[in-house]
Amino acid sequence: MAAVKAPGVLRRLRERGARVRVIATAAALAFITELSLATAADGEVATDATWFEPRPDAQHLTHARADAVVIVGASADLLARAATGRGDDLASATLLSVRAPVLWVPAMNERMWEHPAVQANAERLRGWGHHFLGPVYGAFGSRGEGTGMGRMAEPEDIAAAALGLLEGESRSREVEESREQAALSTSGLLDPSTAPDLRGVHVVVSAGPTREYLDPVRFISNPSSGKMGFAVAEEARDRGASVTLVTGPVSLPDPPGVRVVRIESALDLRDAVVEAARDAGVVVMTAAVADYRAADRATEKQAKVAGDVTVHLTPNPDILAELGADKGGRVLIGFAMETHAGVERAALKARRKNADFILLNYPTREGTAFGGDDNEVTLVRPDGSSEAWPRLTKREVARRLLDEVLAIRERLPHSPG
Ligand code: CTP
Repeated sequence: MAAVKAPGVLRRLRERGARVRVIATAAALAFITELSLATAADGEVATDATWFEPRPDAQHLTHARADAVVIVGASADLLARAATGRGDDLASATLLSVRAPVLWVPAMNERMWEHPAVQANAERLRGWGHHFLGPVYGAFGSRGEGTGMGRMAEPEDIAAAALGLLEGESRSREVEESREQAALSTSGLLDPSTAPDLRGVHVVVSAGPTREYLDPVRFISNPSSGKMGFAVAEEARDRGASVTLVTGPVSLPDPPGVRVVRIESALDLRDAVVEAARDAGVVVMTAAVADYRAADRATEKQAKVAGDVTVHLTPNPDILAELGADKGGRVLIGFAMETHAGVERAALKARRKNADFILLNYPTREGTAFGGDDNEVTLVRPDGSSEAWPRLTKREVARRLLDEVLAIRERLPHSPG
């Protein structure tokens, strides 16, 4: 089924200026025709049949020269073949030859995805630096009311993640180069920002929006990109923490070395965060949780009716407040977005939710908060004291946030892992 979404991904990548080449596996061709793929791509489609045609080039090596490889609708079988170094078809031979970033977008039944064999294969590939996007859990409710399939990420999200990977690759090359420069100029001293000062600590981070479905195809949500939470997760990982990132639907690939749980609704977010927080020393709630969900979610798509409609909403649990009510020795950090009386309202929230501090930001400042790469925040403590930070990249905000967390942990009589 997921294969039929492939042309949508190809079209979006081309619209954004990428040149795309397609390899269709035998299984893909059972679901979609070569012609519909060729129409959406730049020219012909390579298959196992074309691989064995007499040609001057070795097709797997030609394809492996790509700047990125995306496997749309990855099956358990292809994952297994890649994880064991098989090269018995064009797709797996290409994956053996490629040195560029690889993004897997799995699509399979939830039970198959959760099987230890499949998880071990995915983990092995992650260990080699491969990226994953999805599958998306609980698409129409993992609480028994929906289909319960491990749904593939949407074409728009896949295209954005693939392009993000290319950007990330060129950025990390720049960082690598500047690190090398810095190492030279400081006679090989390590970058102090990556000292493993969170080693042995379990850090739980929530990120992105939640989706509250009104019926199977319509939901209430917000434009959170997840970038702030992903930056906190990556920074914590680089400082030696074991990290669980619970994220709503965003178009960012799983950061390597981080346990990622993808959810959709606030109820699923609560279950995943509460579960992960059991042995956590730090919980950072950057998720933009919808405050309400439909009181009665329709199981069938609702047709329009003449005139106005009324939607009955019911409040979602406040996850940060729930964690705060049974805080133990954990450090709890929240985020808040306010348009007025920011500091007073954030201090009140920190007190009400028993958070150690709240990072307050303003949706109205351009290039910051929703979707931007920068953030301009004010740290607000429960006692009302505050500190305005300058405009920083989200990664720099994450660094400062974790510095503050460490300072709080040092003052705690006993800090759990
Ligand atoms: N949060 C949460 N659970 C919710 C809503 C929010 O855990 N149901 C967390 C967010 O992740 C964030 C913090 O609480 O860290 C502040 O969220 P915000 O929406 O600003 O606070 P609310 O209590 O919803 O206040 P408001 O009345 O301003 O919406």
